[in-house]
Amino acid sequence: MKLSCPRNGRARAVFLLLLSMMLSVGWDLRGIPQRFESVTNDRLNELRAEIARYDDLYFRQGKSEITDAEYDRLKREFQTLEQAQPGFVQSDQSVGDDRSGRFPTYVHRERMLSLDKIYTESEWRAFYAKLTTQLGRTDLVFVVEPKYDGLAISLTYEQGRLVRAVTRGNGVEGDDVTVNVRTIRDLPRELRADDGRPIPRFVELRGEIYIDDVEFARINAEREATGEEPFAHPRNLAAGTLKFADPAEVAQRRLSIALYGWGAWEGAPAPQSEVVFLGQVHAWRLPGVTGLRIARTSDEVWSAIKTIERERASLGFPIDGVVVKLDDAAWRTRMGANDHAPHWAVAYKFEAQRAVTRLRAITLQIGRTGVLTPVAEFEPVELGGAVITRATLHNRDEIVRRDIRVGDFIEVEKAGEIIPAVTGVQLARRPPDAKTFVFPDRCPSCETALVAKSGEAAIRCPNAHCPAQRQRRLEHFVSDQAVNINGFGSATIDALLKAGLVQSPADFYRLRREELLGIDGIGEKTANRLLAEVERSKHAELWRFIHGLSIPQVGATTAKELAKKYRDLATLARAGEKALAVSFGPSVAASVSEFFARPENQADITALLAAGVQPQ
Ligand code: IVH
Repeated sequence: MKLSCPRNGRARAVFLLLLSMMLSVGWDLRGIPQRFESVTNDRLNELRAEIARYDDLYFRQGKSEITDAEYDRLKREFQTLEQAQPGFVQSDQSVGDDRSGRFPTYVHRERMLSLDKIYTESEWRAFYAKLTTQLGRTDLVFVVEPKYDGLAISLTYEQGRLVRAVTRGNGVEGDDVTVNVRTIRDLPRELRADDGRPIPRFVELRGEIYIDDVEFARINAEREATGEEPFAHPRNLAAGTLKFADPAEVAQRRLSIALYGWGAWEGAPAPQSEVVFLGQVHAWRLPGVTGLRIARTSDEVWSAIKTIERERASLGFPIDGVVVKLDDAAWRTRMGANDHAPHWAVAYKFEAQRAVTRLRAITLQIGRTGVLTPVAEFEPVELGGAVITRATLHNRDEIVRRDIRVGDFIEVEKAGEIIPAVTGVQLARRPPDAKTFVFPDRCPSCETALVAKSGEAAIRCPNAHCPAQRQRRLEHFVSDQAVNINGFGSATIDALLKAGLVQSPADFYRLRREELLGIDGIGEKTANRLLAEVERSKHAELWRFIHGLSIPQVGATTAKELAKKYRDLATLARAGEKALAVSFGPSVAASVSEFFARPENQADITALLAAGVQPQ
């Protein structure tokens, strides 16, 4: 009997799983074990290395190249294979490690554990059965809470004052990020005891730091507007932000926090249950978890899980599952914990929404600062209630790394990610005529040779006169992110560009009625409306004009700061690089002064002012 292990990921996992099952039921596999063991060992080593790499990327750099669902699959395959190993001993089930080496570390007074994860209803029923059997009763109370998708944090209050904020780290010690956590506006530094209960001498409050949906959208809109790649995941953004070296930069992004538990609690009686704890947190004016439900039976818990899953999109904050915990602290103590997780709680993780479709083409999108982004164009497929046909492929390296070819069957996923991602290629189904995508070396719009900055994945078209970039810049200028001139859609702008009527922002203010009427589809009424909109926009706020100019590295936030400091366009245009660097750092300063040094940009500012633009 000859057995060979398939190379393809999933087939291989199934093969190994079957083998491990055969072994565990005592099949006679003489002649095979050695081969099996070496195959398993190879795969285990491969998985171990892969998981370690993703852990490092995620925990230390706040990045992730795969979706959570993919990561969980790797972990599960690893655990299954590991358990099937002859002489298997439970390995150190660590909780990960987010220490970055860039912060002082601090040892938690009480360890910070993780949670065991389940994915199906039957896994929940099994958990419930084990719990009730162990406690010998079924009259239990559970709290069912959203599982916030951010970064775990432990806050220490001593004599009612916030003295420390430490990440989970390896569970024993974590990064001391107190200075950064102090920038969170909703987090009181002092506990006010107006419920009459004594304030503990020392308390560790545990919770999650996250970025809510509105803030996530705001940051990404700004990045897209400056031609930067948007963040795929709010968790990575929260984790990355919390680990910034400069608290002033942390303060630029609105981090949020939700408290869901406690560690050490000294000098006053600890809460007797989660519900009591949350009441206390509320009395202290601290933000506790929201959207929780109380459940008393296995069925009630399951329906609460499903309810929270349905509410997911409207909660306003990112979640990747639901946490079910025993409410009562005494029962928790009875259940205990292992090194990795408590036995009194479990995390139900949502499955990623995934679909398979066929890649029709890879197109290139040219941003207004010249960055070329490859986009996967695929056959329409339904994902999470919406039909999608495109997803970003991020950059050239990504296509090569994943070996994605036009004609391939690809897997598209949407998990915590708001933006769908191409997560895999079904190599076994690759058609013989699938084509490797050749990234051009010239701009598809203007033929200028493309450039790649060393150390950056982005490929750019360096030509400031590139028609595609020009169109994007004009679209941006009129968008609600910038000057907000309603009515100029991308088709209208395209037509105005082709007619030679609008080349730069100032040209919008020189448009005449007859010219507009000469454009296909623009009649009297539309022309009047457009002209009125242009007129109205002359008094938009100064930051909107600054943002609208598409100066590299100047998003809305920086534009607002520039407006506050320089007060009008002419003064800003004259500000020297040195002066700019004092408040905005060398890189923004260089970019701004380089922009205003170009004669065509100077001419455009002069023309804007001459056209009667009076920013407020
Ligand atoms: S309770 C002993 N409740 O999920 C650990 N955790 O994967 C008790 N999380 O480490 C944790 N929302 O960072 C709990 N409502 C919630 C949570 C929550 C998010 C995180 C937390 C934990 C991780 C486990």
